[in-house]
Amino acid sequence: MKIAGRPYRTIWLRPDGAIEVIDQARLPHEFVTEVLNSAADCARAIKTMVVRGAPLIGATAAYGVALAMRADASDAALTAAIAMLGATRPTAVNLHWALRRMERALSRLPVSARADAAFVEAAAICDEDVEVCRRIGVHGLACLKAAAATKSAGPLNVLTHCNAGWLATVDWGTALAPIYMAHDAGLGVHVWVDETRPRNQGASLTAYELGAHGVPHTIIADNAGGHLMQHGKVDLCIVGTDRVTRNGDVANKIGTYLKALAAKDNDVPFYVALPSSTIDWQLASGRDIPIEERSADELLQMTGRLANGDIARVAIAAPGSPGANPAFDVTPARLISAFITERGVCAASEEGLKSLFPKESE
Ligand code: MRU
Repeated sequence: MKIAGRPYRTIWLRPDGAIEVIDQARLPHEFVTEVLNSAADCARAIKTMVVRGAPLIGATAAYGVALAMRADASDAALTAAIAMLGATRPTAVNLHWALRRMERALSRLPVSARADAAFVEAAAICDEDVEVCRRIGVHGLACLKAAAATKSAGPLNVLTHCNAGWLATVDWGTALAPIYMAHDAGLGVHVWVDETRPRNQGASLTAYELGAHGVPHTIIADNAGGHLMQHGKVDLCIVGTDRVTRNGDVANKIGTYLKALAAKDNDVPFYVALPSSTIDWQLASGRDIPIEERSADELLQMTGRLANGDIARVAIAAPGSPGANPAFDVTPARLISAFITERGVCAASEEGLKSLFPKESE
């Protein structure tokens, strides 16, 4: 996607062999990139959310392994790099999917061939992510067109939570890919953007992306979605996900579950867009998904731009009050209307997933 007319991916290999990423912790106030020179740099970037979003976490970890192999391609170094990168964030399964893929590609090779092969494999993971997200966009566009055809007037109003746009992937995004395609195709679309407390990925990243592409959107407080649905102002919801279990339960940014409940109560279709790298075939249900607990500081403090242009972090609670910050929740499959994947649209169930991914489910 483009920023100020220039096409970007979220992660790329530099001519000097280092990796460069967009620092998402500083958006929307500053567009700054960061250079990652080692596996430890990649692990830190994932942990501090310089990069975030399930597919991009996986892509960054893959390049982390490649940087590790360039420094030392021994079996011990491969195992250590995978362990360090795998411990960065617990919920997004794409991280482990990418690390397993790197391990499979490298462990059978002689040590001397590993570094080059690792960069090739990491680049393939990135290129495939772009194509997979593009295909999610194509299949999701059909859902948006069908919904728009039932409306007599006005734009199609889509609600989304957190950021599942191109910033969360290598390009295109998952939940936002169909929206970009609908907008580009001239289908009138307007997006209700949940602010997504506590880190505000909706207000800071989704609104930034949509604005940069010219997609009409409105930021709303997380608590406003139910009210808008009751008043017929939401035609459908689309969110991304960090992990889908075998039975179709979905982990996504905290607050997704409440939106799905409100959507069910108001007969608003609730779609989840996902690449197959987000399916955890090993876990039977969402009860087993590890939920990341992050620092309460993310809740008790906020960062923003002051009128004088300075960027400041301020406290928003009385000193001494403790906070709790679970970063994800699980939406049961029964609340989800359908999954939008790179292979098409299916029911949110084991049968639905197996119908599109029979080999992968074995
Ligand atoms: O904590 P984050 O910002 O990494 O959480 C991101 C999300 O919850 C996204 O919705 C999810 O990763 C899907 S991204 C295509």
